[in-house]
Amino acid sequence: MAGNWKMNKTSEEARSFLGDFKLFVKDARDCDIVICAPFTLLPLLKKELENTNIKVGAQNIFYEDSGAYTGEVSALMVKEFCSYVIIGHSERRKYFNETNEIVNKKVKKALERGLKVIFCLGETLEEREKGITKQIVETQLREGLSKTTIENIVIAYEPVWAIGTGKTATPAQAEEVHIFLRELLRQLYNQEIADSTRIIYGGSVNQENASAILNMPNIDGCLPGGASLEASSFSNIIKS
Ligand code: 13P
Repeated sequence: MAGNWKMNKTSEEARSFLGDFKLFVKDARDCDIVICAPFTLLPLLKKELENTNIKVGAQNIFYEDSGAYTGEVSALMVKEFCSYVIIGHSERRKYFNETNEIVNKKVKKALERGLKVIFCLGETLEEREKGITKQIVETQLREGLSKTTIENIVIAYEPVWAIGTGKTATPAQAEEVHIFLRELLRQLYNQEIADSTRIIYGGSVNQENASAILNMPNIDGCLPGGASLEASSFSNIIKS
């Protein structure tokens, strides 16, 4: 259960969220909880969440360890503060022109530096209407995870048309793609990997629709954006 805060919250806002959130989820021991925060909040989250059941994640990294890359932050740097990183989010693909090749370099670097990767993929509305959803996610998975290991990867299926739109995929629509991705993992790796890899869903998940989505057999968790910004709604999603 990972919350993607995207470009939201000052440290004061984060502190106030955490005060409530830690209490609300303190008994949730049967799932992994991650907050993926902006870089500026990572030291604060690390400190505030030490010895709790909540883990910290970043939302991006660059694929080099250091050097003349103004404005970028490396895996080595975020590793000081967190254990997860989101890579390949559709907003990075769309606004920052991240291709499958760039995403692949980032995944490799994150794994090399010991981070767990929340690897995002998903089709646009146009692609869904053309009937090429499976082709698109297959290419994203094959190219994004080319020549990487799979053990520390969580796959997040996030249909682009469902992100921030209030338009969730139906549980059946999401399940269909999750089944397809699991079968693809079986082909690319083996049955054990296909069974044990977590495939989570993101795209307008909220406290009302979460349990129907999470009830699907191939949906192992979710990645809310907007609904993770409020301690009560994110914790209700986790409880469901
Ligand atoms: P929303 O839950 O705001 O639609 O965002 C989903 C998302 O992009 C999570 O990575």
